[in-house]
Amino acid sequence: MKHSTIEFSIKSDKPEKLACDCVVVGVYESRKLSDAAQTIDAASSGYISNILKRGDMDGKLESTIMLHSLPGIQSERVLLVGLGKETEFTEKQYCKAVRASAKALANTGANVVGSFLAELPVKTMDMRWKVSHLVEVTLDASYKFNAIKRKSEDKPGTKKGIASLSINVPQASDTQAGTVGLADGLALAAGVSLTKDLGNLPPNVCTPTYLAEQAILLGKTYGLKIEVLERAALEKLGMGSFLAVAQGSEEPPKLIVLQHLKGNKNEKPVVLVGKGITFDTGGISIKPGAEMDEMKYDMCGAASVLGTFKTIAEMDLPLNVIGIIPTCENMPDGRAVRPGDVVTSMSGLTIEVLNTDAEGRLILCDALTYAERFEPSDVIDIATLTGACVIALGHHATGLFSNNDDLAKELLSAGEASLDRAWHMPMWEEYQPLLDSNFADMANIGGRAGGSITAACFLSRFAKKYDWAHLDIAGTAWKSGKEKGGTGRPVPLLTEFLVARAKQTNK
Ligand code: BES
Ligand code: MN
Ligand code: ZN
Repeated sequence: MKHSTIEFSIKSDKPEKLACDCVVVGVYESRKLSDAAQTIDAASSGYISNILKRGDMDGKLESTIMLHSLPGIQSERVLLVGLGKETEFTEKQYCKAVRASAKALANTGANVVGSFLAELPVKTMDMRWKVSHLVEVTLDASYKFNAIKRKSEDKPGTKKGIASLSINVPQASDTQAGTVGLADGLALAAGVSLTKDLGNLPPNVCTPTYLAEQAILLGKTYGLKIEVLERAALEKLGMGSFLAVAQGSEEPPKLIVLQHLKGNKNEKPVVLVGKGITFDTGGISIKPGAEMDEMKYDMCGAASVLGTFKTIAEMDLPLNVIGIIPTCENMPDGRAVRPGDVVTSMSGLTIEVLNTDAEGRLILCDALTYAERFEPSDVIDIATLTGACVIALGHHATGLFSNNDDLAKELLSAGEASLDRAWHMPMWEEYQPLLDSNFADMANIGGRAGGSITAACFLSRFAKKYDWAHLDIAGTAWKSGKEKGGTGRPVPLLTEFLVARAKQTNK
């Protein structure tokens, strides 16, 4: 399986005998050796203990030290990774240690690597979990966006970083669980990486047409049914709200529909709806110039739907899942929608557009109405919807809104389990009147206070016919600053949710 830049394998080798560029072993605080570290220490007449005694490393979580040419050890190097306190070593610490090891290896000449971190006991987590997360976190940490750069940063002949990684499990009997974990980890990483790539692409490349092409490509690769509805079809459906956003742009809008039907025939599908604004200038209610480039990420909801489809297709997940992606640009133009315009949505409800920058809800509402025809069990929309959500929750939690508390709970636990967390926000009736309009059934904004909540309230009016949840990923879909780039969130959360659903329905 070669889906990634790294070739993975499952082994159960002895750390001291493994002939490679580097073996990775853990050390707890304070200076307590893991099993593999102990074995290497014994075979090298106490080399590691000596280093620790000198005070160069004490096992602090995420610290690393690279050792070279240990006596009696086949590998050229040994990377010691700090694990923190043994009693506190749970899922999060495990993933942090894995990330630290990947980062430490990224700029070295160690290409062929053997990791012994999957041997570490992690509370209730089994070998499958440990291996899948080792794979996913390693690939996440090694991700580079190179598609556009003409100058490669790597000089020929000096390739840096991990090329192959053998994941060592303690016993041969763990190999099977390890192999399953490897496949899961690769599937998830492939989806996350696709989501990052699509987000990172510049908005002159990643247009609505490009997203449609990517969906068609996914369909060809995995045998999924893909439909792309063009403007004429959208007009016929009466998607006046979606089309109003698109009308200021030269780029033609698309409604992309993906179908992964691997569950029972009569089982209702889960529908994922992703916001696909490939660039959000704000329209006539134009945004200020600072950091406007980041509005290329306004299609990350769409990208996360495509990424999740890639992952579940790789897994061949036995579940019926439909993806719906409304995608267009939000541009100011002579033909653009104006503040004050009233548009008619596919549902028949009329909307007074008071701010053309609140465009995400205008394209999503028609997609939510379109979702009705699939008679879904649940609909989940994913959108970089509001700056207000970033103010409320910062960059760690995705905002979660739902008209069904059980569905909300399922998504919250999927977030916990995948370490891709969401936080449940209120959506009480009291907020609804903020959307009142004197000239239409509703306005598209509800004022500054509780901005992420009124946005969710707006969507809820179009999601009355099914159980529905809304994930506001404005704060979590990408990072700003020096590490600017897509995160691939919430593909891990969505995958976890769908995998759990598939288990439930196939019981
Ligand atoms: N795509 C933006 C939301 C956004 C802004 C996400 C900044 C991440 C960072 C969305 O279309 C938008 O512009 N929302 C407005 C809504 C407002 C006009 C009610 C916002 O959040 O300012
Ligand atoms: Mn906007
Ligand atoms: Zn937007």
